[in-house]
Amino acid sequence: MEQTKKIVSDKMIGTDFSKKKLKYKKINFVILQAKKVKTTINLSTIMKKILIIGASGQIGSELTPAFRKIYGSDNVIASDCVYPLRPELAEAGPSEKIDATKQEEIAAVVKKYNIDTIFNLAAILSAKAELNPMLGWNIGIGSLLNCLEVSRELGTALFTPSSIGAFGPETPHDGTPQDTIQRPKTIYGVTKVTGELLSDYYHKRFGVDTRSVRFPGIISNVTLPGGGTTDYAVEIYYAAVKEGKFTCPLEAGTFMDMMYMPDAIKAIVDLMEADPTKLVHRNSFNVTAMSFDPEMIYAEIKKHIPSFTMTYDVDPLKQGIANSWPNYMDDSAARKEWNWKPTYNLETMTIDMLKVLKERFNK
Ligand SMILES: NC(=O)c1ccc[n+]([C@@H]2O[C@H](COP(=O)([O-])OP(=O)(O)OC[C@H]3O[C@@H](n4cnc5c(N)ncnc54)[C@H](O)[C@@H]3O)[C@@H](O)[C@H]2O)c1
Repeated sequence: MEQTKKIVSDKMIGTDFSKKKLKYKKINFVILQAKKVKTTINLSTIMKKILIIGASGQIGSELTPAFRKIYGSDNVIASDCVYPLRPELAEAGPSEKIDATKQEEIAAVVKKYNIDTIFNLAAILSAKAELNPMLGWNIGIGSLLNCLEVSRELGTALFTPSSIGAFGPETPHDGTPQDTIQRPKTIYGVTKVTGELLSDYYHKRFGVDTRSVRFPGIISNVTLPGGGTTDYAVEIYYAAVKEGKFTCPLEAGTFMDMMYMPDAIKAIVDLMEADPTKLVHRNSFNVTAMSFDPEMIYAEIKKHIPSFTMTYDVDPLKQGIANSWPNYMDDSAARKEWNWKPTYNLETMTIDMLKVLKERFNK
């Protein structure tokens, strides 16, 4: 990911310019000292040593190998509280055991490898957290606060995903704006809004380079999702290929934003590589690639597997959560501030998902 971007530096990014700050901040500081000289720097020098926390989850399982390809295997340290990691992750680069609710475990690994950027993926997803709200809060906020403190003390940048779960029933559901009402009614949503606020606070107060996106449902074919409300949109592909039938836990007409995993990884890289002087927002950006309801994804799969059938058995917990989330978000701020643009839509994602799963299950 060697790319050169123009930095026109006319304001400081943070308030704390201690020795521990990131490279580009030092560079910007030098630029400022040099009477606001316009210059060009290579932003890819920012992310040299990366720590992924929660690497075994749905996103981490694909983010880790993708990062190892871009930044070099030895420069991406995979970690999770469940240890050892799966062989694909453990054998392809360095790995460590980190329980993100223990600040000293994060700090020790950051120091050991001289980490400059942390990706904090540890969380309990929406439907699962609703069954154990204290656990949802303790993991979601505990791990974030620890990562923020380590970032403040050791000068690392920090990415922590937010979610469409950060919105609630009072939020405008169609074309949900970047800046709008956020009164979620789930503990998952409460942790996400809190996380957005804390991350902005650490940026403004301490100059920590925090960045984040509000991910929609992520669809992937490597690791099954970990108990979210949008999981059905992954499970339906597996069911279609393996059994030819699917029981949908959400009602027809339930629209939610979704994204194919390659676009989720692209969003993370593009945001973290973005020119910080162009970022008006930070925590968190609306990002989406498509919005559909169960009937639409069913119809798309049926184009390729005509015998596929779907029935409904609505899960009231998931339906209640889904009803409180946006039908589709406005992600124009991300498009404007760091050129966000997804690659996949429902049609192209379905072709790819079915191809991969049919090969895997010999169908
Ligand atoms: N997958 C999605 O559709 C989606 C959508 C929006 C936002 N997000 C967000 O993205 C992030 C990652 O999501 P995911 O789908 O990969 O989640 P996941 O549940 O699949 O994975 C989470 C990982 O974190 C690990 N973990 C849990 N507690 C930990 C702890 N104390 N210390 C270290 N690791 C711990 C788990 O073992 C697991 O490997 C979360 O913040 C989630 O809220 C995900």
